Amino acid sequence: MNILVLGSGGREHALCWKLAQSRAIESEGGTLYVSPGNPGMEDVARIVSVDAARHDDVIAFCKTHDIGLVVIGPEAPLVDGLADSLRQAGVAVFGPSAQAAQLEGSKGFTKALCDRAGIPTAGYVRCTSPDEAMKALSTFAPPFVLKADGLAAGKGVVIADNEDHAKEALEDMFGGAFGAAGAEVVIEEFMYGEEVSLFALTDGTNVIPFGTAQDHKRVGEGDTGPNTGGMGAYSPARVLSDELLAEAMERIVFPTVRQMKDEGMPYRGVLYAGLMLTDEGPKLVEYNARFGDPECQVLMMRLESDLADYMLACANGTLGELAAPLFDDATAMTVVMAAKGYPGTPEKGGVIDLSGVAEGSGVKVFHAGTKLQADGTLVANGGRVLNVTAAGADTKAARDAAYAAVDAVDFPSGFCRRDIGWREIERG
Ligand code: AMP
Ligand code: GLY
Repeated sequence: MNILVLGSGGREHALCWKLAQSRAIESEGGTLYVSPGNPGMEDVARIVSVDAARHDDVIAFCKTHDIGLVVIGPEAPLVDGLADSLRQAGVAVFGPSAQAAQLEGSKGFTKALCDRAGIPTAGYVRCTSPDEAMKALSTFAPPFVLKADGLAAGKGVVIADNEDHAKEALEDMFGGAFGAAGAEVVIEEFMYGEEVSLFALTDGTNVIPFGTAQDHKRVGEGDTGPNTGGMGAYSPARVLSDELLAEAMERIVFPTVRQMKDEGMPYRGVLYAGLMLTDEGPKLVEYNARFGDPECQVLMMRLESDLADYMLACANGTLGELAAPLFDDATAMTVVMAAKGYPGTPEKGGVIDLSGVAEGSGVKVFHAGTKLQADGTLVANGGRVLNVTAAGADTKAARDAAYAAVDAVDFPSGFCRRDIGWREIERG
């Protein structure tokens, strides 16, 4: 079976790396294609150029290259309905329909669904005008949680310490700071607790847990500074004990999948639940309709089962026929190396030399924003540039291996956090 992966980040590099080890590709002669890809993927996939925004072009590529499965990495093409177009054309696809992807594409949609299905989440109000929002604000206590409804590249959430700051943020949102995403704003109750990411695969009916992770969203050590797409992650997240995992599945993930199916918009693909572990148990912070980036990198490092089998089963509605996936007991950690300036304007073109890194035996550098120059030099070409990933017997061993690899990377215009995994390490 031939497979086409769409995307260009560290998440997609990790997916390609794992898919290349699947039976369909490794031993049955299938070809793995990726578009637009990045230089790190060259040794595991054939890099092609198909514009995910042009659905007819993607369908035509699938027909001419006999693609048996399309894997959509990022959220934008999902919200844009690429999975619907492919399904209509008879192409198997891993990823939810546009309607189902509203779980990520609209915060208001998800909150309302939680109400209808009785799913624990923060109390909230949806507002469509600044007046309404200013009035609603007085019914909440600080810190105020304000969210632009639509996709905002992870930047649409503001946590404001006081009312003045909150009002300013609301004015910005309704004023177009996040474009159309801010036409509606959700104001939420602030939840106290530790955050954890739970991944589940579903074919619309059957649901299986697919690993846990913790991300580090702030750019600075000690979780300070502005939010980013994620500066590092590890898996598993032991803070989500077996009991809490079961509770989160029973009270949050299963009812969501059931409700989506009952309402005629079955969710197929990976459902990424951002959870807050509160005194009252796990509550939903948000859903994403795709794997986390960089959480995917650590999940793939630990996954022992054949990824293509699970993705195809999600696409074909046969997930119930597969056994629970196997993950290595080891801890995997990934450290994001970003270009100076990130999450603001990153410095482009910084030279990267990876020749000092000993890959293999549990160490892998996934590429995100990299580019090969005509002369063969690898340079930075984005905010998050490399995901230096390693496995170890426990969190400390994984951290030591990951940072040893980071120290072997020569990337003078890059930086990283040196404290990935600090919570888990403090817990001992
Ligand atoms: P989101 O994009 O919805 O995941 O929000 C971004 C980040 O804001 C989350 O990862 C949390 O750290 C924080 N956050 C969002 N909603 C809440 C909430 N209701 N209470 C506390 N923190 C929140
Ligand atoms: N790392 C957070 C995300 O992928 O949304």
